[in-house]
Amino acid sequence: MATTAEEPNPLLEGLRLRRRPDPCILVIFGASGDLTTKKLLPALYALTYRHLLPDNFAVVGAARTEESDDEFRERMKDAVKEHARDPFDEEVWDRLAEGMRYVTLDFADEAAESSLSETLTQVDRERGTLGNRLYYFAVPPNAIGTLVTELGERRSTDGWTRLVIEKPFGHDLQSARELNAQLQEHFEENEVFRIDHYLGKETVQNMLALRFANGIFEPIWNRQFIDHVQITVAESIGIEGRAGYYEQAGAIRDIFQNHLLQLVAITAMEPPIDFTADSVRNEKVKVLKAMHTPGPKHVVRGQYGPGFVEGEEVRGYREEEGVAPGSLTDTFVAAKLFVDNWRWADTPFYVRMGKRLARRETTIAIQFKRAPHPPFEGGAADGLRPNVLLIHVQPNEGVSLAIGAKVPGQGMTIRTVHMDFLYGGAFREGLPDAYERLILDAMLGDATLFTRSDEIEEQWALVDAIVAFWQRDRPQFPNYPAGSWGPSAADELLHRDGRSWRRH
Ligand code: BG6
Repeated sequence: MATTAEEPNPLLEGLRLRRRPDPCILVIFGASGDLTTKKLLPALYALTYRHLLPDNFAVVGAARTEESDDEFRERMKDAVKEHARDPFDEEVWDRLAEGMRYVTLDFADEAAESSLSETLTQVDRERGTLGNRLYYFAVPPNAIGTLVTELGERRSTDGWTRLVIEKPFGHDLQSARELNAQLQEHFEENEVFRIDHYLGKETVQNMLALRFANGIFEPIWNRQFIDHVQITVAESIGIEGRAGYYEQAGAIRDIFQNHLLQLVAITAMEPPIDFTADSVRNEKVKVLKAMHTPGPKHVVRGQYGPGFVEGEEVRGYREEEGVAPGSLTDTFVAAKLFVDNWRWADTPFYVRMGKRLARRETTIAIQFKRAPHPPFEGGAADGLRPNVLLIHVQPNEGVSLAIGAKVPGQGMTIRTVHMDFLYGGAFREGLPDAYERLILDAMLGDATLFTRSDEIEEQWALVDAIVAFWQRDRPQFPNYPAGSWGPSAADELLHRDGRSWRRH
Protein backbone atom coordinates (compact mmCIF):
# COMPACT_ATOMS: atom_id res chain seq x y z
CA MET A 1 0.00 0.00 0.00
CA ALA A 2 1.29 3.44 -0.96
CA THR A 3 1.73 5.84 1.94
CA THR A 4 1.07 9.55 1.62
CA ALA A 5 3.30 12.12 3.28
CA GLU A 6 0.83 12.55 6.16
CA GLU A 7 0.23 8.87 6.80
CA PRO A 8 2.77 7.26 9.09
CA ASN A 9 4.86 4.59 7.46
CA PRO A 10 5.52 2.02 10.17
CA LEU A 11 8.63 0.83 8.39
CA LEU A 12 10.25 4.19 9.06
CA GLU A 13 9.48 4.19 12.77
CA GLY A 14 11.25 2.87 15.84
CA LEU A 15 14.97 2.78 16.49
CA ARG A 16 16.85 2.81 13.23
CA LEU A 17 20.50 2.46 12.57
CA ARG A 18 22.75 4.41 10.27
CA ARG A 19 25.34 1.74 10.94
CA ARG A 20 25.32 -1.52 12.82
CA PRO A 21 27.29 -1.74 16.06
CA ASP A 22 30.57 -3.66 15.96
CA PRO A 23 30.67 -7.22 17.28
CA CYS A 24 31.13 -6.96 21.07
CA ILE A 25 30.63 -8.43 24.52
CA LEU A 26 28.39 -6.58 26.95
CA VAL A 27 29.61 -7.27 30.48
CA ILE A 28 27.06 -6.39 33.16
CA PHE A 29 28.52 -5.83 36.64
CA GLY A 30 25.67 -6.12 39.14
CA ALA A 31 23.87 -8.75 37.09
CA SER A 32 21.87 -9.98 40.06
CA GLY A 33 20.32 -6.57 40.70
CA ASP A 34 16.94 -5.08 39.82
CA LEU A 35 18.20 -2.89 37.00
CA THR A 36 19.43 -5.93 35.08
CA THR A 37 16.15 -7.80 35.36
CA LYS A 38 13.75 -4.87 34.99
CA LYS A 39 15.56 -2.72 32.43
CA LEU A 40 18.71 -4.11 30.82
CA LEU A 41 17.55 -7.59 29.79
CA PRO A 42 14.14 -6.41 28.55
CA ALA A 43 15.98 -3.75 26.50
CA LEU A 44 18.40 -6.32 25.05
CA TYR A 45 15.48 -8.55 24.17
CA ALA A 46 13.71 -5.67 22.38
CA LEU A 47 16.90 -4.96 20.43
CA THR A 48 17.25 -8.65 19.49
CA TYR A 49 13.60 -8.70 18.46
CA ARG A 50 14.26 -5.86 16.02
CA HIS A 51 17.58 -7.24 14.73
CA LEU A 52 19.45 -4.19 15.99
CA LEU A 53 22.26 -5.98 17.81
CA PRO A 54 25.41 -7.12 16.01
CA ASP A 55 25.39 -10.73 14.80
CA ASN A 56 28.48 -11.47 16.84
CA PHE A 57 27.35 -10.52 20.29
CA ALA A 58 27.47 -11.90 23.82
CA VAL A 59 26.25 -10.90 27.26
CA VAL A 60 28.34 -11.79 30.29
CA GLY A 61 26.66 -11.22 33.63
CA ALA A 62 28.92 -10.71 36.64
CA ALA A 63 27.88 -10.46 40.30
CA ARG A 64 28.75 -11.76 43.75
CA THR A 65 25.93 -14.31 43.80
CA GLU A 66 27.01 -17.86 42.90
CA GLU A 67 25.19 -18.90 39.77
CA SER A 68 25.81 -21.17 36.78
CA ASP A 69 25.42 -20.05 33.15
CA ASP A 70 22.18 -22.01 32.91
CA GLU A 71 20.74 -20.58 36.12
CA PHE A 72 21.59 -17.08 34.93
CA ARG A 73 19.92 -17.68 31.56
CA GLU A 74 16.78 -19.04 33.25
CA ARG A 75 16.58 -16.04 35.56
CA MET A 76 17.03 -13.65 32.63
CA LYS A 77 14.39 -15.51 30.63
CA ASP A 78 11.89 -15.01 33.46
CA ALA A 79 12.86 -11.34 33.62
CA VAL A 80 12.20 -10.92 29.90
CA LYS A 81 8.87 -12.73 30.15
CA GLU A 82 7.83 -10.44 32.96
CA HIS A 83 9.17 -7.08 31.85
CA ALA A 84 9.75 -6.99 28.07
CA ARG A 85 7.52 -4.78 25.94
CA ASP A 86 7.30 -7.36 23.14
CA PRO A 87 5.61 -10.77 23.22
CA PHE A 88 7.89 -13.59 24.27
CA ASP A 89 9.24 -15.50 21.29
CA GLU A 90 11.37 -18.59 21.91
CA GLU A 91 13.38 -18.10 18.69
CA VAL A 92 14.24 -14.47 19.56
CA TRP A 93 15.16 -15.49 23.09
CA ASP A 94 17.43 -18.28 21.85
CA ARG A 95 19.33 -15.83 19.65
CA LEU A 96 20.04 -13.67 22.70
CA ALA A 97 20.57 -16.52 25.19
CA GLU A 98 23.03 -18.37 22.99
CA GLY A 99 25.78 -15.87 23.80
CA MET A 100 24.97 -15.53 27.48
CA ARG A 101 27.46 -16.38 30.21
CA TYR A 102 27.81 -15.76 33.93
CA VAL A 103 30.85 -15.13 36.11
CA THR A 104 30.77 -15.01 39.92
CA LEU A 105 32.79 -12.02 40.90
CA ASP A 106 33.82 -10.38 44.14
CA PHE A 107 34.42 -6.83 42.96
CA ALA A 108 37.28 -6.22 45.36
CA ASP A 109 39.13 -9.43 44.46
CA GLU A 110 41.83 -9.19 41.76
CA ALA A 111 41.88 -12.95 41.16
CA ALA A 112 38.20 -12.91 40.35
CA GLU A 113 38.82 -10.24 37.74
CA SER A 114 41.37 -12.51 36.10
CA SER A 115 38.75 -15.29 35.83
CA LEU A 116 36.50 -12.75 34.14
CA SER A 117 39.13 -11.88 31.58
CA GLU A 118 39.69 -15.59 30.85
CA THR A 119 35.96 -15.99 30.21
CA LEU A 120 35.96 -12.95 27.94
CA THR A 121 38.88 -14.23 25.87
CA GLN A 122 37.11 -17.55 25.50
CA VAL A 123 33.84 -15.83 24.48
CA ASP A 124 35.81 -13.78 21.92
CA ARG A 125 37.01 -17.05 20.37
CA GLU A 126 33.59 -18.69 20.40
CA ARG A 127 31.49 -15.71 19.32
CA GLY A 128 33.88 -13.69 17.15
CA THR A 129 33.50 -10.56 19.29
CA LEU A 130 36.97 -9.23 18.33
CA GLY A 131 38.03 -8.03 21.78
CA ASN A 132 35.39 -5.24 21.85
CA ARG A 133 34.03 -4.73 25.34
CA LEU A 134 31.16 -2.71 26.73
CA TYR A 135 31.36 -2.83 30.53
CA TYR A 136 28.10 -1.82 32.20
CA PHE A 137 28.44 -0.80 35.86
CA ALA A 138 25.09 -1.38 37.56
CA VAL A 139 26.79 -1.30 40.98
CA PRO A 140 27.09 1.29 43.78
CA PRO A 141 29.77 3.97 43.27
CA ASN A 142 32.11 2.46 45.90
CA ALA A 143 32.30 -0.79 43.91
CA ILE A 144 33.36 0.99 40.71
CA GLY A 145 36.80 2.27 41.65
CA THR A 146 38.69 -1.02 42.10
CA LEU A 147 37.06 -2.55 39.05
CA VAL A 148 37.91 0.39 36.82
CA THR A 149 41.55 0.29 37.89
CA GLU A 150 41.69 -3.47 37.25
CA LEU A 151 40.09 -3.15 33.84
CA GLY A 152 42.29 -0.22 32.94
CA GLU A 153 45.45 -2.07 33.84
CA ARG A 154 44.42 -5.21 32.01
CA ARG A 155 42.82 -3.60 28.99
CA SER A 156 43.77 -5.40 25.86
CA THR A 157 45.01 -3.70 22.75
CA ASP A 158 42.54 -5.64 20.61
CA GLY A 159 39.25 -3.88 19.97
CA TRP A 160 37.64 -1.05 21.87
CA THR A 161 36.69 -0.76 25.54
CA ARG A 162 33.83 1.43 26.74
CA LEU A 163 32.35 1.89 30.18
CA VAL A 164 28.73 2.65 30.94
CA ILE A 165 28.31 3.99 34.47
CA GLU A 166 24.91 3.96 36.14
CA LYS A 167 23.80 6.52 38.65
CA PRO A 168 24.41 7.39 41.40
CA PHE A 169 27.66 8.83 40.08
CA GLY A 170 29.20 9.63 43.47
CA HIS A 171 27.42 11.07 46.46
CA ASP A 172 28.56 14.68 46.29
CA LEU A 173 30.94 16.86 44.28
CA GLN A 174 34.04 15.55 46.01
CA SER A 175 33.23 11.85 45.43
CA ALA A 176 32.14 12.51 41.84
CA ARG A 177 35.45 14.27 41.18
CA GLU A 178 37.36 11.35 42.66
CA LEU A 179 35.43 8.91 40.49
CA ASN A 180 36.02 11.03 37.41
CA ALA A 181 39.73 11.14 38.23
CA GLN A 182 39.86 7.35 38.62
CA LEU A 183 38.12 6.88 35.30
CA GLN A 184 40.32 9.41 33.54
CA GLU A 185 43.46 7.72 34.78
CA HIS A 186 42.80 4.73 32.52
CA PHE A 187 40.14 5.81 30.03
CA GLU A 188 39.49 8.69 27.68
CA GLU A 189 36.36 10.79 28.17
CA ASN A 190 34.91 9.40 24.91
CA GLU A 191 35.16 5.89 26.37
CA VAL A 192 33.05 6.74 29.44
CA PHE A 193 29.25 6.78 29.16
CA ARG A 194 27.57 8.17 32.32
CA ILE A 195 23.97 7.19 31.99
CA ASP A 196 20.98 9.37 32.80
CA HIS A 197 18.10 7.34 31.42
CA TYR A 198 15.88 10.43 31.08
CA LEU A 199 18.01 11.48 28.12
CA GLY A 200 17.10 8.24 26.37
CA LYS A 201 13.37 8.96 26.63
CA GLU A 202 11.82 9.76 23.25
CA THR A 203 9.89 12.70 24.64
CA VAL A 204 13.02 14.29 26.10
CA GLN A 205 14.84 13.97 22.79
CA ASN A 206 11.75 15.35 21.13
CA MET A 207 12.28 18.55 23.07
CA LEU A 208 15.35 19.06 20.90
CA ALA A 209 13.34 18.32 17.75
CA LEU A 210 10.54 20.61 18.84
CA ARG A 211 12.88 23.49 19.56
CA PHE A 212 15.43 23.11 16.80
CA ALA A 213 13.54 21.53 13.89
CA ASN A 214 10.70 24.07 13.95
CA GLY A 215 11.12 27.69 12.99
CA ILE A 216 8.24 28.96 15.12
CA PHE A 217 9.34 28.20 18.67
CA GLU A 218 12.93 29.42 18.90
CA PRO A 219 12.16 33.13 18.28
CA ILE A 220 9.81 33.18 21.28
CA TRP A 221 11.82 30.81 23.46
CA ASN A 222 13.16 33.46 25.82
CA ARG A 223 12.47 35.88 28.69
CA GLN A 224 10.61 38.31 26.45
CA PHE A 225 7.81 35.89 25.68
CA ILE A 226 8.01 33.26 28.40
CA ASP A 227 6.67 34.10 31.84
CA HIS A 228 8.08 31.05 33.56
CA VAL A 229 8.74 27.32 33.18
CA GLN A 230 7.36 24.53 35.41
CA ILE A 231 8.91 21.10 35.49
CA THR A 232 7.23 18.28 37.40
CA VAL A 233 8.66 14.81 37.96
CA ALA A 234 5.91 13.19 40.04
CA GLU A 235 5.84 9.52 40.98
CA SER A 236 3.02 7.68 42.69
CA ILE A 237 5.30 4.82 43.75
CA GLY A 238 7.22 4.84 47.02
CA ILE A 239 10.78 3.65 47.46
CA GLU A 240 10.04 0.07 46.41
CA GLY A 241 12.25 -1.71 48.90
CA ARG A 242 15.31 0.46 48.14
CA ALA A 243 15.63 2.01 51.61
CA GLY A 244 19.36 1.25 51.83
CA TYR A 245 20.01 3.43 48.81
CA TYR A 246 17.23 5.99 49.23
CA GLU A 247 18.00 6.85 52.87
CA GLN A 248 21.41 8.07 51.68
CA ALA A 249 20.14 9.72 48.52
CA GLY A 250 16.74 11.34 49.05
CA ALA A 251 14.88 13.03 46.22
CA ILE A 252 17.63 15.63 45.86
CA ARG A 253 20.25 13.06 44.81
CA ASP A 254 17.90 10.53 43.27
CA ILE A 255 16.07 12.84 40.85
CA PHE A 256 17.06 16.51 41.21
CA GLN A 257 20.80 16.00 40.72
CA ASN A 258 20.38 14.13 37.44
CA HIS A 259 17.01 13.75 35.67
CA LEU A 260 15.58 17.07 36.78
CA LEU A 261 18.66 19.19 36.05
CA GLN A 262 18.99 17.53 32.65
CA LEU A 263 15.40 18.50 31.84
CA VAL A 264 16.20 22.10 32.81
CA ALA A 265 19.36 22.04 30.68
CA ILE A 266 17.56 20.65 27.62
CA THR A 267 14.78 23.25 27.98
CA ALA A 268 17.12 26.18 28.45
CA MET A 269 20.12 25.36 26.24
CA GLU A 270 21.15 27.36 23.17
CA PRO A 271 20.90 25.66 19.77
CA PRO A 272 24.03 23.52 19.32
CA ILE A 273 25.97 24.02 16.09
CA ASP A 274 25.54 20.34 15.28
CA PHE A 275 24.37 17.16 16.92
CA THR A 276 27.72 15.77 17.98
CA ALA A 277 28.22 14.75 21.58
CA ASP A 278 30.46 17.66 22.43
CA SER A 279 28.38 20.36 20.75
CA VAL A 280 25.23 19.29 22.59
CA ARG A 281 26.97 18.81 25.91
CA ASN A 282 28.84 22.13 25.66
CA GLU A 283 25.50 23.91 25.47
CA LYS A 284 24.05 21.98 28.40
CA VAL A 285 27.08 22.70 30.57
CA LYS A 286 26.68 26.43 29.87
CA VAL A 287 23.14 26.29 31.29
CA LEU A 288 24.29 24.41 34.39
CA LYS A 289 27.08 26.92 34.96
CA ALA A 290 24.63 29.80 34.57
CA MET A 291 22.32 28.47 37.28
CA HIS A 292 22.98 30.21 40.54
CA THR A 293 22.40 28.38 43.78
CA PRO A 294 18.87 28.98 45.04
CA GLY A 295 18.68 30.44 48.56
CA PRO A 296 16.93 28.54 51.39
CA LYS A 297 13.69 30.42 50.72
CA HIS A 298 13.62 29.08 47.19
CA VAL A 299 13.91 25.39 48.06
CA VAL A 300 11.22 23.29 49.76
CA ARG A 301 11.83 19.77 50.97
CA GLY A 302 9.25 17.25 52.03
CA GLN A 303 8.71 13.73 53.25
CA TYR A 304 5.52 11.74 52.85
CA GLY A 305 3.40 10.49 55.70
CA PRO A 306 0.72 7.81 55.44
CA GLY A 307 -2.11 8.41 52.97
CA PHE A 308 -3.99 7.07 49.98
CA VAL A 309 -2.47 6.75 46.52
CA GLU A 310 -4.80 5.94 43.66
CA GLY A 311 -7.36 4.61 46.13
CA GLU A 312 -4.95 2.40 48.03
CA GLU A 313 -3.87 3.01 51.60
CA VAL A 314 -0.08 3.32 51.89
CA ARG A 315 2.29 3.81 54.79
CA GLY A 316 4.45 6.83 55.43
CA TYR A 317 8.13 6.98 54.48
CA ARG A 318 9.28 6.47 58.07
CA GLU A 319 7.25 3.26 58.23
CA GLU A 320 8.84 1.79 55.09
CA GLU A 321 11.05 -1.25 55.69
CA GLY A 322 14.64 -0.30 56.40
CA VAL A 323 13.92 3.41 57.01
CA ALA A 324 14.94 4.92 60.36
CA PRO A 325 11.87 5.88 62.44
CA GLY A 326 13.11 9.48 62.75
CA SER A 327 14.52 9.70 59.23
CA LEU A 328 15.09 13.21 57.86
CA THR A 329 15.47 12.00 54.26
CA ASP A 330 13.63 14.10 51.68
CA THR A 331 11.18 12.35 49.36
CA PHE A 332 10.06 15.63 47.75
CA VAL A 333 11.87 18.74 46.55
CA ALA A 334 10.51 21.89 44.95
CA ALA A 335 12.69 24.82 43.94
CA LYS A 336 12.71 28.10 42.12
CA LEU A 337 15.73 28.16 39.86
CA PHE A 338 17.23 30.83 37.63
CA VAL A 339 19.44 30.53 34.58
CA ASP A 340 21.42 33.76 34.59
CA ASN A 341 22.05 34.51 30.95
CA TRP A 342 20.68 36.81 28.24
CA ARG A 343 17.98 34.39 27.19
CA TRP A 344 16.58 33.61 30.64
CA ALA A 345 17.52 36.36 33.14
CA ASP A 346 14.70 36.79 35.71
CA THR A 347 12.59 33.95 34.27
CA PRO A 348 11.87 31.44 37.03
CA PHE A 349 12.12 27.71 36.44
CA TYR A 350 9.87 26.19 39.10
CA VAL A 351 10.65 22.52 39.57
CA ARG A 352 9.17 19.83 41.81
CA MET A 353 9.72 16.14 42.16
CA GLY A 354 8.61 13.56 44.65
CA LYS A 355 7.58 10.06 45.59
CA ARG A 356 4.07 9.04 46.58
CA LEU A 357 2.46 12.00 44.89
CA ALA A 358 -1.08 11.87 43.54
CA ARG A 359 -0.07 10.27 40.25
CA ARG A 360 2.81 9.54 37.91
CA GLU A 361 3.45 12.51 35.68
CA THR A 362 6.53 14.10 34.16
CA THR A 363 5.82 17.35 32.34
CA ILE A 364 7.61 20.45 31.18
CA ALA A 365 5.24 23.42 30.96
CA ILE A 366 6.37 26.55 29.15
CA GLN A 367 4.03 29.30 30.25
CA PHE A 368 3.96 32.29 27.90
CA LYS A 369 3.16 35.87 28.88
CA ARG A 370 -0.38 37.09 28.41
CA ALA A 371 -1.35 38.98 25.27
CA PRO A 372 -0.44 42.61 25.92
CA HIS A 373 -3.83 44.09 25.13
CA PRO A 374 -6.85 41.82 24.59
CA PRO A 375 -9.28 44.07 22.66
CA PHE A 376 -12.38 42.35 23.99
CA GLU A 377 -15.18 43.71 26.10
CA GLY A 378 -15.04 43.28 29.87
CA GLY A 379 -15.38 39.70 31.01
CA ALA A 380 -15.11 38.12 27.52
CA ALA A 381 -11.70 36.61 28.23
CA ASP A 382 -12.20 35.81 31.92
CA GLY A 383 -12.01 32.07 31.27
CA LEU A 384 -8.76 32.43 29.34
CA ARG A 385 -5.51 31.17 30.80
CA PRO A 386 -2.09 32.16 29.41
CA ASN A 387 -0.72 30.08 26.52
CA VAL A 388 1.13 27.02 27.76
CA LEU A 389 3.20 24.63 25.71
CA LEU A 390 3.04 21.41 27.67
CA ILE A 391 5.47 18.60 26.99
CA HIS A 392 4.12 15.32 28.36
CA VAL A 393 7.33 13.41 28.99
CA GLN A 394 5.30 10.52 30.46
CA PRO A 395 2.73 9.03 30.52
CA ASN A 396 0.39 9.97 27.60
CA GLU A 397 3.50 11.07 25.73
CA GLY A 398 2.94 14.07 23.53
CA VAL A 399 2.84 17.84 23.28
CA SER A 400 -0.11 20.10 23.86
CA LEU A 401 -0.53 23.83 23.25
CA ALA A 402 -3.13 25.71 25.28
CA ILE A 403 -4.65 28.55 23.27
CA GLY A 404 -7.66 30.83 23.61
CA ALA A 405 -10.59 30.11 21.30
CA LYS A 406 -13.99 31.67 20.81
CA VAL A 407 -16.85 29.75 22.35
CA PRO A 408 -19.32 29.14 19.50
CA GLY A 409 -22.46 31.25 19.56
CA GLN A 410 -23.52 34.85 19.82
CA GLY A 411 -21.14 37.43 21.21
CA MET A 412 -17.48 36.98 22.05
CA THR A 413 -16.54 34.67 24.88
CA ILE A 414 -13.08 33.18 24.95
CA ARG A 415 -11.96 30.00 26.62
CA THR A 416 -8.80 27.91 26.78
CA VAL A 417 -8.64 24.88 24.44
CA HIS A 418 -5.80 22.46 23.60
CA MET A 419 -4.08 21.54 20.36
CA ASP A 420 -2.64 18.09 20.98
CA PHE A 421 -0.01 15.88 19.44
CA LEU A 422 -0.09 12.38 20.91
CA TYR A 423 2.60 9.84 20.07
CA GLY A 424 0.01 7.07 20.14
CA GLY A 425 -2.03 8.83 17.45
CA ALA A 426 0.77 10.05 15.18
CA PHE A 427 3.07 7.02 15.15
CA ARG A 428 2.23 3.34 15.07
CA GLU A 429 5.40 1.94 16.59
CA GLY A 430 5.32 1.89 20.41
CA LEU A 431 7.94 4.05 22.11
CA PRO A 432 11.24 2.28 22.72
CA ASP A 433 12.40 2.16 26.31
CA ALA A 434 15.16 4.64 27.11
CA TYR A 435 17.59 1.79 27.83
CA GLU A 436 17.23 0.35 24.32
CA ARG A 437 18.37 3.60 22.80
CA LEU A 438 21.17 4.16 25.30
CA ILE A 439 22.67 0.65 25.16
CA LEU A 440 22.73 0.89 21.38
CA ASP A 441 24.29 4.37 21.43
CA ALA A 442 27.04 3.17 23.77
CA MET A 443 27.76 0.25 21.42
CA LEU A 444 27.99 2.71 18.57
CA GLY A 445 30.25 5.00 20.59
CA ASP A 446 27.80 7.92 20.45
CA ALA A 447 27.88 9.84 23.73
CA THR A 448 25.41 12.61 22.82
CA LEU A 449 22.77 11.32 25.24
CA PHE A 450 25.22 10.65 28.08
CA THR A 451 26.49 13.02 30.75
CA ARG A 452 30.02 14.40 30.50
CA SER A 453 32.30 14.72 33.54
CA ASP A 454 31.95 18.51 33.75
CA GLU A 455 28.14 18.30 33.56
CA ILE A 456 28.03 15.81 36.44
CA GLU A 457 30.29 18.04 38.52
CA GLU A 458 28.17 21.16 37.89
CA GLN A 459 25.07 19.19 38.89
CA TRP A 460 26.70 18.08 42.14
CA ALA A 461 27.91 21.60 42.95
CA LEU A 462 24.31 22.79 42.94
CA VAL A 463 23.14 19.87 45.10
CA ASP A 464 25.99 20.32 47.59
CA ALA A 465 25.06 23.98 48.07
CA ILE A 466 21.44 23.07 48.81
CA VAL A 467 22.34 20.20 51.12
CA ALA A 468 24.74 22.52 53.00
CA PHE A 469 21.96 24.87 54.07
CA TRP A 470 19.60 21.97 54.78
CA GLN A 471 22.06 20.72 57.35
CA ARG A 472 21.61 23.88 59.38
CA ASP A 473 18.06 23.08 60.52
CA ARG A 474 15.77 20.15 61.22
CA PRO A 475 12.77 19.83 58.95
CA GLN A 476 9.34 18.99 60.41
CA PHE A 477 8.76 15.67 58.71
CA PRO A 478 6.48 14.14 57.52
CA ASN A 479 4.92 17.22 55.93
CA TYR A 480 2.73 15.87 53.15
CA PRO A 481 0.32 12.94 53.03
CA ALA A 482 0.97 10.23 50.44
CA GLY A 483 -1.32 10.84 47.48
CA SER A 484 -1.17 14.66 47.66
CA TRP A 485 0.88 17.09 45.54
CA GLY A 486 3.50 17.71 48.23
CA PRO A 487 3.86 20.09 51.17
CA SER A 488 1.88 23.35 51.25
CA ALA A 489 5.19 25.25 51.29
CA ALA A 490 5.64 24.16 47.65
CA ASP A 491 2.40 25.96 46.76
CA GLU A 492 3.46 29.02 48.73
CA LEU A 493 6.73 29.14 46.77
CA LEU A 494 4.69 30.09 43.69
CA HIS A 495 1.90 32.00 45.44
CA ARG A 496 4.48 34.47 46.73
CA ASP A 497 5.16 35.30 43.07
CA GLY A 498 1.46 35.52 42.17
CA ARG A 499 1.64 32.20 40.34
CA SER A 500 0.50 28.65 40.99
CA TRP A 501 1.38 25.14 39.93
CA ARG A 502 -0.38 23.97 36.83
CA ARG A 503 -3.80 22.55 37.58
CA HIS A 504 -4.00 18.79 37.45
C1 BG6 B 1 15.51 6.38 38.81
C2 BG6 B 1 15.33 6.63 40.30
O1 BG6 B 1 16.67 6.99 38.36
O2 BG6 B 1 14.41 6.91 38.12
C3 BG6 B 1 14.02 6.02 40.79
O3 BG6 B 1 16.41 6.06 41.01
C4 BG6 B 1 12.87 6.52 39.95
O4 BG6 B 1 13.81 6.34 42.16
C5 BG6 B 1 13.17 6.33 38.47
O5 BG6 B 1 11.71 5.80 40.33
C6 BG6 B 1 12.10 6.98 37.62
O6 BG6 B 1 12.29 6.62 36.29
P1 BG6 B 1 11.08 6.61 35.27
O7 BG6 B 1 11.71 6.27 33.95
O8 BG6 B 1 10.10 5.60 35.76
O9 BG6 B 1 10.51 8.00 35.32
